[in-house]
Amino acid sequence: MLLRLLLIPLFTMSASGTKTEDGACQRHVSDCVAAAKDQARYDHYRIYNVQFDNVEQIELFQKLEEQSDSLTFIGHAREIGQKLSILVAAHRVADFADLLQTYKLQHRVLTYNFQEKIDRNMREVLPEDVDVDKYDWQHFFHLKTINGWMEHMAAKHPDRLSVLDMGSSTQGNPIKGIKLGSNPENKAIFIESGIHAREWIAPATATYIINELLNSKDKQVQNLAKNYNWFVFPCVNPDGYKYTFEHDRMWRKNRQLFGTCRGVDLNRNYPDHWNSTGSSSDPTRYDYAGPSAGSELETKRLIDFIRNNVAKEQIKTYISLHSYSQMLMFPYGYTKEHVSNYDDLQEFGKKAAAAIKAESGRDYVSGNLYETIYPSSGGSMDWAHAEAGIPIAYTFELRGPPDSQDLFILPAVEIQPTASEAFTAIRTIVEAAAEKGYYK
Ligand SMILES: *[C@@H]1O[C@H](CO)[C@@H](O)[C@H](O)[C@H]1NC(C)=O
Ligand SMILES: [Zn+2]
Repeated sequence: MLLRLLLIPLFTMSASGTKTEDGACQRHVSDCVAAAKDQARYDHYRIYNVQFDNVEQIELFQKLEEQSDSLTFIGHAREIGQKLSILVAAHRVADFADLLQTYKLQHRVLTYNFQEKIDRNMREVLPEDVDVDKYDWQHFFHLKTINGWMEHMAAKHPDRLSVLDMGSSTQGNPIKGIKLGSNPENKAIFIESGIHAREWIAPATATYIINELLNSKDKQVQNLAKNYNWFVFPCVNPDGYKYTFEHDRMWRKNRQLFGTCRGVDLNRNYPDHWNSTGSSSDPTRYDYAGPSAGSELETKRLIDFIRNNVAKEQIKTYISLHSYSQMLMFPYGYTKEHVSNYDDLQEFGKKAAAAIKAESGRDYVSGNLYETIYPSSGGSMDWAHAEAGIPIAYTFELRGPPDSQDLFILPAVEIQPTASEAFTAIRTIVEAAAEKGYYK
């Protein structure tokens, strides 16, 4: 009885302390809003960029990554001379700084309060139900808006554009894309983006490319739109993408449940040398390969789509858009062994990087994925090339640079130039491949 008397007023107090019946916050308005939305926060999280100068430091940081879920490694500690960015939780800053000093690691602090980057980024998002006429490349957009925009463009250009649906995701969201062009003689180019949820610049770039192909006044772009059929799927991980807007800006994987945690890294889940290198068997990790090869619904949807269309639609080029690091990479990811058309892919990649340099002055590195960024298996690009037999396959890491202060939180002012660079790279690759007879 006494317990009851105590509990009732306590419960009532905490309930009325956060929200009134009409939903208005009574005090600590920002706390109240964040709590009500169940959003992850990164206040005073720091980004360190560390350099490994000896084997002892590398082994130490490999252990550290395994032990700690309050340190987010952007890549793994692998080799001498390597520089690596690490997002350090606020409560670990002192301990981490001490380790750097104790083991004499060269380092820089790139950002002191990561939440500020996220706050600024969230102000660059237009509301989910914004009129699709307001769609642009100065803001970021929700899944629903991107899908609505594609429907809108298809309604405006019914002769040239149709909306496609690969089927639904794990949580029942549609995986939508477009087909542009309908000449059955044309060879096709397939572009996929958003497989990693937090890399928002990738879907923004995909919609930019759709828009350019539809509306550009440039004769060369108009010819590309006419002479090839284009398949573009901006959000192939819709559940993850939604989650980054609603709950955690840093989420990367899909949202499949594994007991106490969620998510498979869909770009480690493809059935080509699956789970052989550069992925994790631990569902709590950001690069979890999944319980088996091709286990995830999103992976199956994409595989089915490519299998059903690769011959029928003559898909000869596969592009996967990611961020960040400014790299143009081709297969393989799982081995440093060379693909049969290595020399061509190397040449096209170098041409594309030079074209970007000429356009914006930005440095993009080109090479096979294994040697250029880090070894990883089960990626969509390796599968598309090796299993689906698509000869021209690239994975782009878009802006910012490898030592970016923003990690994946690219400012909206950079959408337009980044997307333009990516499109320039694709144009350069397609034209160079055409010259070599890949689309005959
Ligand atoms: C994935 O590879 C790891 C390391 O070789 C192994 O321990 C694990 O059993 C593999 N996972 C599956 C599901 O085969
Ligand atoms: Zn990625």
